[in-house]
Amino acid sequence: MAAIDLFCNPSSLCIDRPSLRVGSSCFSVEGKLRRSGIAYMASSVPIKEESRENLGCSVTGDSFIRPHLRKLSPYQPILPFEVLSTRLGRKPEDIVKLDANENPYGPPPEVLEALGSMRFPYIYPDPESRSLRAALAEDSGIESEYILAGCGADELIDLIMRCVLDPGDKIVDCPPTFTMYEFDAAVNAARVIKVSRKLDFSLDVEQIAEVVEQERPKCIFLTSPNNPDGSIINDETLLKILTLPVLVVLDEAYIEFSGIESRMSWVKKYENLIVLRTFSKRAGLAGIRVGYGAFPFSIIEYLWRAKQPYNVSVAAEISACAALTNPVYLENVKVALVLERERLFKLLKEVPFLNPYPSYSNFILCEVTSGMDAKKLKEDLAKMGIMIRHYNNKELSGYVRVSVGKPEHTDALMLCLKRLG
Ligand SMILES: Cc1ncc(COP(=O)(O)O)c(C=O)c1O
Repeated sequence: MAAIDLFCNPSSLCIDRPSLRVGSSCFSVEGKLRRSGIAYMASSVPIKEESRENLGCSVTGDSFIRPHLRKLSPYQPILPFEVLSTRLGRKPEDIVKLDANENPYGPPPEVLEALGSMRFPYIYPDPESRSLRAALAEDSGIESEYILAGCGADELIDLIMRCVLDPGDKIVDCPPTFTMYEFDAAVNAARVIKVSRKLDFSLDVEQIAEVVEQERPKCIFLTSPNNPDGSIINDETLLKILTLPVLVVLDEAYIEFSGIESRMSWVKKYENLIVLRTFSKRAGLAGIRVGYGAFPFSIIEYLWRAKQPYNVSVAAEISACAALTNPVYLENVKVALVLERERLFKLLKEVPFLNPYPSYSNFILCEVTSGMDAKKLKEDLAKMGIMIRHYNNKELSGYVRVSVGKPEHTDALMLCLKRLG
């Protein structure tokens, strides 16, 4: 049976620490309000004697934080490149970075040219990202009215949740998968129903249907290709899930590497489908932060209302538009990564302590076998300047994920794996 989790990890809590005092005098909200001239407004709200005392002397900053956030485990992002470089004692260019599914070829040259000749960095960006959405309409074949851009697909995941979920509402998550869904659900005080994938990482559709019927979740997050294993969702499976009374958010961050068509245009037909994509992988723009999504008309209107007005920066819009002017480059890079994925897969298969899973994406998940410890493998490779991804969660503790890099990155990885074997 699926497990319902309230994503609250008390281990990250700091609420047991002693009260924070600012200098010798206590932080007094009441006094501050008086001085700032809004004491009248504030005093019109009756404050109980007890809470006044709290405010005066023993208040801690975290008491202002919403209770569910006080229990939130922080998201564990990768280390910034410069920090990593210092820690490893290696120059950034000497690090083989295969831990975050970035695109090592970077963006087409047009992007840097466009950034260098940016004319209006001092003017706020277009809140509707009109140029980008027009370019995306051409790129995807779906009209720009269905498209909304964001500061990475990450922002759109959070924005969808903010628009859809009331505190206590449920989402369905299908682990192992991209962990931002459960993280954002926790930030939005939602509950997560986990329907684990089967052993081959395919979706358990029957279980999903049962959970949707019994628990009435608001939405389900699906990923195709799925991060971390690279499996895809076929039409039949997606169509079955779309018949359920639940909003389906299909994350296609890696769709370009899969050889299958994006389902962006499906949002015209299915009122309960949202499709998310990104420039991070396809165009090597992870550091610039541009994502986009296709939404049914009945939904997109509310995202427009709720989003931050300037969520896509001038630099981000210029970069993404410039990247789309060179489809040949994007195609060549994709082909290079797909070819390299196949080569990497064959080589990893020959490593006696790794069992790689076939992938439709720009990464390969490997089970670490033969008594080799996955975490130690990751750490040993890091000492040699090769970064791969290891997981702290129980389900994936015996696995590592290797992003597909350039041929020389594969060669360096294989050399180090040989040494470790
Ligand atoms: C499945 C999936 N969706 C979304 C993202 C984030 O995309 P973006 O960089 O556009 O925020 C990632 C990043 O690794 C991912 O793996």
